[in-house]
Amino acid sequence: MSEKPWAGRFTQPTDQFVEEFTASIDFDKRLYRYDIQGSIAHARMLAKQQIITEEDATTIIAGLEAILKDIEAGEFEFKVSLEDIHMNIEARLIERVGPVGGKLHTARSRNDQVALDIRLYLRDELRQIRQYLDCLQEALLGQAEKNLGVIMPGYTHLQTAQPVLFSHHMMAYYEMFCRDAGRLDDLARRVNIMPLGAGALAGTTFPIDREYVAEQLGFDGVTRNSLDSVSDRDFALEFCAAGSILMMHLSRLSEELILWSSADFNFIELTDAFCTGSSIMPQKKNPDVPELVRGKSGRVYGNLMSLLTLMKSLPLAYNKDMQEDKEPLFDTIDTVKGSLKIFADMIAQMGVKAEPMRIAAARGFSTATDVADYVVRKGLPFRQAHEVVGKTVRYCIEHKKEIEELTLEEFRIFSDLIGEDIYDYVTLDASVNARRATGGTAREAVEREIQRARKARNEQ
Ligand code: ARG
Repeated sequence: MSEKPWAGRFTQPTDQFVEEFTASIDFDKRLYRYDIQGSIAHARMLAKQQIITEEDATTIIAGLEAILKDIEAGEFEFKVSLEDIHMNIEARLIERVGPVGGKLHTARSRNDQVALDIRLYLRDELRQIRQYLDCLQEALLGQAEKNLGVIMPGYTHLQTAQPVLFSHHMMAYYEMFCRDAGRLDDLARRVNIMPLGAGALAGTTFPIDREYVAEQLGFDGVTRNSLDSVSDRDFALEFCAAGSILMMHLSRLSEELILWSSADFNFIELTDAFCTGSSIMPQKKNPDVPELVRGKSGRVYGNLMSLLTLMKSLPLAYNKDMQEDKEPLFDTIDTVKGSLKIFADMIAQMGVKAEPMRIAAARGFSTATDVADYVVRKGLPFRQAHEVVGKTVRYCIEHKKEIEELTLEEFRIFSDLIGEDIYDYVTLDASVNARRATGGTAREAVEREIQRARKARNEQ
């Protein structure tokens, strides 16, 4: 018999470069554990359904377990001539246990086999990714709890807008990552559906029990259409899409950390372990980790585009094109996982510089809106109030004064509605703490959200 399981109808050997070109073993070998896990469940089902004997199943399973050990011990030779992980393992099984190993592939095709393997693999990786995401959220929440009194400038257009609590800013990211977690949990439900039994495309003539395979492997159910089962990669696409959004959040956070750790902002200090120096400038401490994560968001978006483009226009059912699904998926998993892991530690250790933040928050007339709101409460329509305070700010610029440095007489140049109590409204703390409605930056509102998050985590 030829080495290749499918060589029967061929008269000539495969061109050597074609062999290399079409092989996926270099990257799909990482599926080995799931391939073996799926094959063991399949063999058990074949025996239960009396498609093969119990004895054959026992031999096959023992062979597969031995192969697993060999691979983990680094004692398995992956062959390009055997194309992919599925044929490498099957060929080795036959080599080990003899022709009975050839019964494993009864009622199965590589098309449903690979769909099963990817789902098993992604399911596992999703658990790990969720854990890292959880650690990052814990780190953000920890920073929010630890720095509750710290006021920083809030920005729009990167121009000073209104003062906010640093904790409020951390909790903004906490919210984003909650949504990411929700997306991952949601798609995980669609990953966890069992495709084996679709055969090559049309199902199988053998009396298989798909539910039994699903049950053994911990799936929530079985796919409902054999054509769809082997040609669906929505679950991988959904993961790449959710991963892209998550990386976008990480990239925005990265950007802020990079700005904040510059001498010009000086809001935070990343620990040395997460930075590197310059080969020429001795003073440099560069925020490489956030920079790299910001950069890596690009490849994750690229992976999503690759996969979307790959699947576009593919006729049903399986096409060899689909072998190209693996690298973008694997790369997305690796990148998202690595970025979350490193960010969780980096955020937990990040030092927060309260004083420079407060000083920056006091610049740029950040309490101008509070003065406008004040005159509105005294009866002026908001549009006119806006005008009044705009002029006040211009006066401040011309006279090089901050708003709270104006005398009452100066305030009253612009509106006689302003009284002595204005000074109770124009401090940073007053401005922040006045925004008490749910979702606002007042200390009590932020504390409520922190407590909610804490409670939800404790109940998890
Ligand atoms: N290595 C293939 C892939 O990743 C497995 C399925 C191959 N099926 C086939 N009919 N060539 O897609």
